Amino acid sequence: MDVVIRNANLADGRQGVDIAIEAGRIAAIGPALAVTAGREIDAGGDLVSAPFVDAHFHMDATLSYGLPRVNASGTLLEGIALWGELKPDLTQQALIGRALQYCDWAVARGLLAIRSHVDVCDDRLLAVEALLEVKRLVAPYLDLQLVAFPQDGVLRSPTALANLKRAIAMGVDVVGGIPHFERTMADGAESVRILCEFAAEQGLRVDMHCDESDDPHSRHIETLAYESNRLGLHGRVTGSHLTSMHSMDNYYVSKLLPLIREGGVAAIANPLINITLQGRHDTYPKRRGMTRVPELLAAGIDVAFGHDCVMDPWYSLGSGDMLEVAQMGLHVAQMTGQDAMRACFEAVTTTPARILGLEQYGIAVGNHADLVLLDAADPVEAIRLRAARRLVMRRGAVIAEAPRANARLDLPGRPDSVNFRLNR
Ligand code: FE2
Repeated sequence: MDVVIRNANLADGRQGVDIAIEAGRIAAIGPALAVTAGREIDAGGDLVSAPFVDAHFHMDATLSYGLPRVNASGTLLEGIALWGELKPDLTQQALIGRALQYCDWAVARGLLAIRSHVDVCDDRLLAVEALLEVKRLVAPYLDLQLVAFPQDGVLRSPTALANLKRAIAMGVDVVGGIPHFERTMADGAESVRILCEFAAEQGLRVDMHCDESDDPHSRHIETLAYESNRLGLHGRVTGSHLTSMHSMDNYYVSKLLPLIREGGVAAIANPLINITLQGRHDTYPKRRGMTRVPELLAAGIDVAFGHDCVMDPWYSLGSGDMLEVAQMGLHVAQMTGQDAMRACFEAVTTTPARILGLEQYGIAVGNHADLVLLDAADPVEAIRLRAARRLVMRRGAVIAEAPRANARLDLPGRPDSVNFRLNR
């Protein structure tokens, strides 16, 4: 074997297993494997997880915070306007440089698959070209899936639909949309129909920014679920944000949830961004704005947590740490039960992997040897500690590594009775 990891806990609850790796794949998993390997790694009872996956990001805007100015109101709409001011000044070199810096951060944090929207409303398609190049460059380290995103509205912006089709022809993977930004509800619904039909023709997945609004009457998710069902796109369609569901009438939501399930549509909440951008027109009480995550999960709908933004016109913080995203999602959705906390870990690992359609993902024999060794015993502890990544592996090769940072104060007379391992 090339590598064997000893005494690892797995996210599914298995404890103290060994993982043998050969030729970039997981060759065996089991207790005390009788194998020899070129490198032995002692997990010491720590969690080995499949890599983190971010199902919703904007890599064309990342690390542009302050260019050309800061979002003063903190609203989604000022962010869109600010991005519009920045667009004419974008260069490929700057886009690629910022995206690669973000990928450095992502890999260090065990984030090895990202679905990034890329704005197609600049007729030059500079960002599309840049991110296709980034996708090619980073392929040995992480999977970058791109969504053709008509930021200014596929109907509202005169060249957006043609540009979106050009982007797909250039190699962008997924069809995007933004129905709530079209001029009218009717145009929004029409945009969903046009884009879903295009995706069905092309055999592509769909991921729309959908109802990113506090307006309870923003109901484009209903049309998205309908079109997914009508066109047989089950399992290939995602509604991102869905924040209007937070403000909807409960009776209407009781009809909507089964329709989303029937359409085979997945949901992506973006907790860090939703909690900061939504509710901005409220005084008090101030809405949280995140979609109804526990209710969607209870209805059998896949829900992932995305990062959405890091240091850009919409969000001034972030570092590519999906455990920070999971922790915020857990708090905003009040998902504090043990099963609910584990579901928050799944929302940044296995569920987004399914949404992206990643193949050979997960800690199982035959899959890619892509994994993260966390300084935590289990998924709940990983979220609580935002655990350090001891080691990140891609196709069997270690691509990031960090020592544990522990401290124990050396005090005379210190009682030894307390053994609560805060930082293990
Ligand atoms: Fe977004």
